[in-house]
Amino acid sequence: MQILLMGPPGAGKGTQAVKLVEKFSIPQISTGDMFRAAVKEGTELGKKAKACMEAGTLVPDEVTVGIVRERLAKEDCKNGFILDGFPRTVEQAEELQKILEELGMSLTKVLNIHVPAEHLIERAVGRRICKTCGATYHVKFNPPKSDKVCDNCGGQLYQRADDNEETMKKRLSVYEESTRPLIDYYKKVGVYAEIDGRQPIENVTEELVNVLYSVKN
Ligand code: AP5
Ligand code: MG
Ligand code: ZN
Repeated sequence: MQILLMGPPGAGKGTQAVKLVEKFSIPQISTGDMFRAAVKEGTELGKKAKACMEAGTLVPDEVTVGIVRERLAKEDCKNGFILDGFPRTVEQAEELQKILEELGMSLTKVLNIHVPAEHLIERAVGRRICKTCGATYHVKFNPPKSDKVCDNCGGQLYQRADDNEETMKKRLSVYEESTRPLIDYYKKVGVYAEIDGRQPIENVTEELVNVLYSVKN
């Protein structure tokens, strides 16, 4: 199953991707996570991505498309994958189409997690992530048992550098301008479905899974 999870910053793409990984045993491919790992390691890629991420703007398409092309060619994507946060521009979507054709694949479903803008800043600013295992929490909507410690592994929780109100406003305006047009793009392709992301996390997962099962059968 080749799944594309779409939605504005803070909509719940990462949260839901983890659930779908468990359910379908296919890897999550998050360009944001790949860039953050590269920044942490101080690689060339990290140097290219860091300033854009901190400003809330997009990393240039040629950089982003290159890392996705490499990742999708790996063995563990043969049975499918969950793209999270890529593509984010029509140009990236067109490049993805070419990559998939080269690999003899196509998208099974594009799932757009719809959350109105007024909820998104609160979601991002309240997000906490485990340094060790990457688990995502929210101080109000999905709180860890103890303030600064991960329930799963006891790791330390941190806040992403771009999860502040100012950068989030920029990320939302970049979304409106560059990424929202993908909704019409994928409606035309005909594999598009929209899920109401304002529901509790478990209900969103259930709806996503139902849509995916309806494609399979
Ligand atoms: P990226 O890491 O992809 O960030 P994003 O798109 O802004 O999305 P987020 O990760 O912030 O949100 P999410 O939808 O995953 O939400 P989550 O599940 O965590 O990208 C970061 C940067 O990298 C970009 O700004 C750009 O610079 C660069 N980049 C990445 N991809 C790129 C590309 N393709 N091209 C160019 N540049 C790129 O949930 C958020 C919070 O809400 C959590 O606290 C969670 O617990 C909570 N929550 C989740 N679901 C619910 C719910 N149903 N109800 C209540 N709370 C919920
Ligand atoms: Mg994410
Ligand atoms: Zn953890």
